[in-house]
Amino acid sequence: MSFGPQFERALALLREAIAAAQATPEPPLTASQMLAELDELAGLRGRPAFYPYLGSGIGRGARAMLADGRWVLDFALGIGVHLFGHGNLDLIETAVRAAASDLVMQGNLLFNREYVRLMRTLLAHAPRGMDHCWLSLSGADANENALKLARQKRDGRPGVIAFRGCFHGRTSAMAEITDRPDYRVGQPQTFPVRYLPFFNRADPHSTAQTLAALRDLLAREGDQLAAFIVELVQGEAGFVTAPRDFFVPLFEECRRAGIVIWVDEVQTFARTGELFATDLLELADYADVITIGKVFQGSAMLFRKSLAPDPALISGTYSGATVPMAVAVRIIEKLTTEGILGPAGRVKRFESLTREHLERLSRQRPGLISHIDGVGAMIAFRLGDGRLTATREFIQRCFAAGLVLYYGGHDPACIRLFLPAAVLSEDELAEAFAIIERCL
Ligand SMILES: Cc1ncc(COP(=O)(O)O)c(C=O)c1O
Repeated sequence: MSFGPQFERALALLREAIAAAQATPEPPLTASQMLAELDELAGLRGRPAFYPYLGSGIGRGARAMLADGRWVLDFALGIGVHLFGHGNLDLIETAVRAAASDLVMQGNLLFNREYVRLMRTLLAHAPRGMDHCWLSLSGADANENALKLARQKRDGRPGVIAFRGCFHGRTSAMAEITDRPDYRVGQPQTFPVRYLPFFNRADPHSTAQTLAALRDLLAREGDQLAAFIVELVQGEAGFVTAPRDFFVPLFEECRRAGIVIWVDEVQTFARTGELFATDLLELADYADVITIGKVFQGSAMLFRKSLAPDPALISGTYSGATVPMAVAVRIIEKLTTEGILGPAGRVKRFESLTREHLERLSRQRPGLISHIDGVGAMIAFRLGDGRLTATREFIQRCFAAGLVLYYGGHDPACIRLFLPAAVLSEDELAEAFAIIERCL
């Protein structure tokens, strides 16, 4: 990185800010002051927060300090974003350096070097066959771009095949694909979306049934369909996994029919024990386009040459901010060099420790903990019969006791554990499970 004259000034500002904060440290809010600020937030955005979480800006690993000075263990991580937890000094240092760059935002007419470095890094680690990278701001943005590429490749055919229970974002088109009618109340359906059943491990005929449904669909409507969008581990549905053998025949069938295979890794990126679930399941030969987001603090679409878009098809003012681009490169460097990924990495170790805790609890409390699923740093379980209200109440109880969790699925719902696996300790995991046990 080259440092312009603004770097000296930025450093001086930082020193001044540190000195001022040390001279007159800001006391934490009282609990009621924090609640008042959360009320203000609710008024400003027209909707209350899910739980009374207002961060202080202070955190250490898996723990965050709320604005009222209370420390919590964070296993929600902003819905799976912060694999390195809170207050990671390495990432903060990268961010501070990048913040002294001449530009806050970068876009499609203005690239600084972080932009090139990030694309180069992503493609260097991408599943084989991915030729290009296109940066964007959110997971849904990346998916919008992928939809356009697929439709263009298929000469304007509008339709999409997706899985029951899928989640792909909340832009207009993604809300039409996401299998949640309650997320698109008052919205028109403007293109065909056809759903296939996802893998059901309780049903030995699951793969055959989904394959038959796909064949039937392609015979009836294949000429109206552009793409098959797939989460290899369903995220918002509650960390539902499926084996490689489930996907392969479906992808083969789509290949034969010319349907574009679009793997949505926005939630799975870096969480399954490999950077890409596509590689974990050895499905690289099938993917035409892969979208990613969350853990690397931005979003991107990786795609094959054969899908290269017409020059005017995708663009936009912004494609990312300088700080998250620089931090994203550092995150990927850390993920790939610090023993976090791979069969012997931290993610896999914490997957098995978490499963052990859950299996012990499910033996001790039969019927109360069941349906343990997920992979890597994304593990879920069902509480009781999975009623949504009871699941949400349980999460609030855990929050009050110092553990931040989130749920997935609907009715039945499940508790999702987004593990900050890159920084978590075994003691912290045990502490989280002691809270879960107390709140059961
Ligand atoms: C699989 C998947 N795709 C897309 C998205 C949308 O990403 P974003 O919220 O960044 O737009 C999400 C978000 O949870 C997701 O889990």
